[in-house]
Amino acid sequence: MCGIVGYVGPQDARDVVLEGLRRLEYRGYDSAGIAVVADGELTSAKKAGKLANLEKVLAEQPLPEATVGIGHTRWATHGGPTDRNAHPHLSEDGAVAVVHNGIIENFASLRSELEAAGVEFGSETDTEVAAHLLAAAYARTPAGEGRLAESMRLVCSRLEGAFTLVATAAAEPDTLVAARRSSPLVVGVGDGEYFLGSDVAAFIGHTRDALELGQDQVVELHRTRGVTVTDFAGAAVEPTAYSVDWDAAAAEKGGYDWFMLKEIAEQPQAVADTLLGRLGPAGELVLDEVRLSDQELRDVDKIFVVACGTAYHAGMIAKYAIEHWTRIPVEVELASEFRYRDPVLDRSTLVIVISQSGETMDTLMALRHAKEQKARILAICNANGSTIPRESDAVLYTHAGPEVAVASTKGFLTQVVACYLVGLFLAQVRGVKYADEVGAIVENLRKLPEHIATVLDEMEPVRELARNLADENTLLFLGRHVGFPVALEGALKLKELAYIHAEGFAAGELKHGSIALIDQGTPVVVVVPSPVSRGSVHGKVVSNIQEVRARGARTIVIAEDGDDDVVPYADHLIRVPRTPTLLAPVVTTVPLQVLACEIASARGLDVDQPRNLAKSVTVE
Ligand code: F6R
Repeated sequence: MCGIVGYVGPQDARDVVLEGLRRLEYRGYDSAGIAVVADGELTSAKKAGKLANLEKVLAEQPLPEATVGIGHTRWATHGGPTDRNAHPHLSEDGAVAVVHNGIIENFASLRSELEAAGVEFGSETDTEVAAHLLAAAYARTPAGEGRLAESMRLVCSRLEGAFTLVATAAAEPDTLVAARRSSPLVVGVGDGEYFLGSDVAAFIGHTRDALELGQDQVVELHRTRGVTVTDFAGAAVEPTAYSVDWDAAAAEKGGYDWFMLKEIAEQPQAVADTLLGRLGPAGELVLDEVRLSDQELRDVDKIFVVACGTAYHAGMIAKYAIEHWTRIPVEVELASEFRYRDPVLDRSTLVIVISQSGETMDTLMALRHAKEQKARILAICNANGSTIPRESDAVLYTHAGPEVAVASTKGFLTQVVACYLVGLFLAQVRGVKYADEVGAIVENLRKLPEHIATVLDEMEPVRELARNLADENTLLFLGRHVGFPVALEGALKLKELAYIHAEGFAAGELKHGSIALIDQGTPVVVVVPSPVSRGSVHGKVVSNIQEVRARGARTIVIAEDGDDDVVPYADHLIRVPRTPTLLAPVVTTVPLQVLACEIASARGLDVDQPRNLAKSVTVE
């Protein structure tokens, strides 16, 4: 949420910053802006709307060539998405410019204080207070080495809330300074040049060497002095270096019309990468990263899975699998609700936090709450070096590679697979009750990439169906057991991409009220469990299809190969390979992703950047 870029070095900062913004635009596209220092002066350009609008402005009125620059792509919080509210914000005297991600919670009182002192504000943003405070601190700080960083520390001591701030000063063409508290920021280290980004995608075209910054730290990047990191009090801190394990090509569309289509197509590989090295030759789980001791894992008597949105749906699937394999009670919680209802947690509670970005503020706050209650935290995360894994006791990375489309696809499938690994690992450590079943499950996990590839090969009828459904106003999604979270995920994808009203239901719940929604021709997507699934759930879902069809629904049925029971009741039948029930979401979700993507495309919408959204939601 909001993308931040900074550069200092021998290249033309305008190009490097704009390239970074292009790669970070998925984090917010309400406005974009850039500021550079040239000839002792700060100049900036900013424009409401997508980055393309800013690029147009820059083509007509180019900024001067520069060696230092900052940029921002915004997801609006305080103040509407206007030119005025776009970042960077410059101080009145033009001495400093800042870009910001997060929310400065005490901005109203700071603004009153500054206005009382005669400062005139040019925007409604919370960020602008930081620009004016920084200018005041800069004016008070003696010129010399570390002046901008010292001023930044003074400003940070006044701010409440979450923020990443990046600043540049007109008098310092070789310096870039940034600060972070509970908001993302990474440093890229090149040869005599330095980069800042909300995530590594900002600079992956230039370097794979990165530095992690901790909470409440200020970093100064200087062309000759290099990198200096301190805490907010000024004490030196050693940052952690790491190498990014993907390259610039992974962050490009690679010939696909949309990043989302590319990411859907990457799912067989992404899932294979999640499994890589984690399934031993004898079917045992090898999760060395789970640094919790066997005793700690044996002591677990309750599990919470905490996440938001799509990751929450992955958590719902995890509940079915982990409870079944381990017999440990599992509760799944929306991260934004978790800490407000005073959950019962203690040392023997395992909290699994799931987050693709590793920066979702709701999830981070839930994690911190659980930590305060002494629970053990295991993160399932995709973004290396992000905040959530850093603050967790252990992390299982999904290794899905960069996910650029705002709507999560490969992020989701790999989260689900990582949850399976955790469940099976717990079962293994604690003594496996379902020993035979776990062996067979591991074998079936290995087959998942191939199954996903098979589903993807058969997507032409789904694309055709999507074109046919593009003008619908409502779609309903039904599922039972693990098919229920799949239905929720299918509905969420459609809402966010195609702006069509969609709802997911537990199929058995429909008759308790919502079946009244069904009218002649209402499209209803039904996720059918395997005929060999536990109990009579398959039969129940087949009955549910008949019920909705009897009321006029047009049924779109997702069923496994060889399931003939559904044939008479399916207006459209989408086949998926046979997969054991608990693992089935990894294959049944795929056609729903394609359906949503293609419907949105057919409606002429921007699939990668749906309206009002941003990837990586770093505000609560
Ligand atoms: C929907 C989607 C979101 C995210 C949610 C959590 O397609 O992507 O619902 O799943 O915002 O994000 P992470 O996993 O980054 O914590």
